[in-house]
Amino acid sequence: MLNGGYFIAMLVALGGIIYMGMFTYSYFSCESCDNEWISLDVKGLEKDFKHRLFGQHIASEVILKAVKGSLSTPDPKKPLTMSLHGHSGTGKNFVSQLLAQNLYKNGLTSQYVHVFMATLHFPHVQLIDQYQNDLQKWIRGNVTLCPRSMFIFDEMDKMHPGLINAIKPFLDYTSEVDKVDYRKAIFIFLSNTGGDKINEHTLSVLMSGKTSESIKLSELEEELSMTVFNNSNSGFWQTNLIQTNLIDYFIPFLPLEFKHVMSCVRAELESRGVKNEGIVATIASSLVYYPKEEKLLSVKGCKTVVSKVNLYF
Ligand SMILES: *[C@@H]1O[C@H](CO)[C@@H](O)[C@H](O)[C@H]1NC(C)=O
Ligand SMILES: *[C@@H]1O[C@H](CO)[C@@H](O)[C@H](O)[C@H]1NC(C)=O
Repeated sequence: MLNGGYFIAMLVALGGIIYMGMFTYSYFSCESCDNEWISLDVKGLEKDFKHRLFGQHIASEVILKAVKGSLSTPDPKKPLTMSLHGHSGTGKNFVSQLLAQNLYKNGLTSQYVHVFMATLHFPHVQLIDQYQNDLQKWIRGNVTLCPRSMFIFDEMDKMHPGLINAIKPFLDYTSEVDKVDYRKAIFIFLSNTGGDKINEHTLSVLMSGKTSESIKLSELEEELSMTVFNNSNSGFWQTNLIQTNLIDYFIPFLPLEFKHVMSCVRAELESRGVKNEGIVATIASSLVYYPKEEKLLSVKGCKTVVSKVNLYF
């Protein structure tokens, strides 16, 4: 026998389920290529760089300027191309993440943000022809879907030079390739290449009694592009990316000092709701620093901070 109250309760429940379903559907599936989903939050990016990125005064300044300049122009002349250099743990991936978060509502998970890792996506040298084709097809396809697409190439030092050449046509000033306009796209290249030079320079500055904050971009820039160009292990090698000035910015990421590692630890603790200044220095001290005597720079930047914090909480 059908009880009236029971029936109504069923209807209400069913309605609720349908409503929830529609809600989740619309929430998760309608990211679109428009201002509602893609717009640069300059203030947010500035704030993140100031409070969440440590020891990178050059990178934060250059990237902010570059991004503001290129993304606020309604009609840019070429895609924005940045090459980020430094050893792991210095914040290259983190900066890309912050940039994505302050440009796309969905951050790195946006369907308009594409991350390629040499060892994951293009592992076999013998398949290079297919990789080249795929990559060109993907870039063309995605930029057709959304001009403001972001492509992040991680592990550039492990990327086959042929692959880089495949991207080249998209980076240029030409307004159209195959009737697709690439000038609103963003290309970010991450690599360790040049990291040794950057670290050497930073160490000598610190040894001479100056602070790393005194280092200027010009001290590193030229050397960096030369090193990248000369290094046969670098994916840039033999490509004309550099010769033809297709990269707008070479951005050095400096090695981190004890005080920066302290900041990383503090931020990690705060993100877990822990406020315990007493333990910050203890955890920061548990990382490895060089040179052996002076212990000025962290070997792995802030990379192992999370796992060290895990040991305490
Ligand atoms: C967009 O790029 C992804 C790889 O990130 C690829 O799988 C997909 O097929 C591309 N979409 C189009 C329309 O080409
Ligand atoms: C790069 O190579 C050129 C010529 O082969 C050489 O003159 C230059 O010193 C090299 N630069 C670096 C930074 O190794």
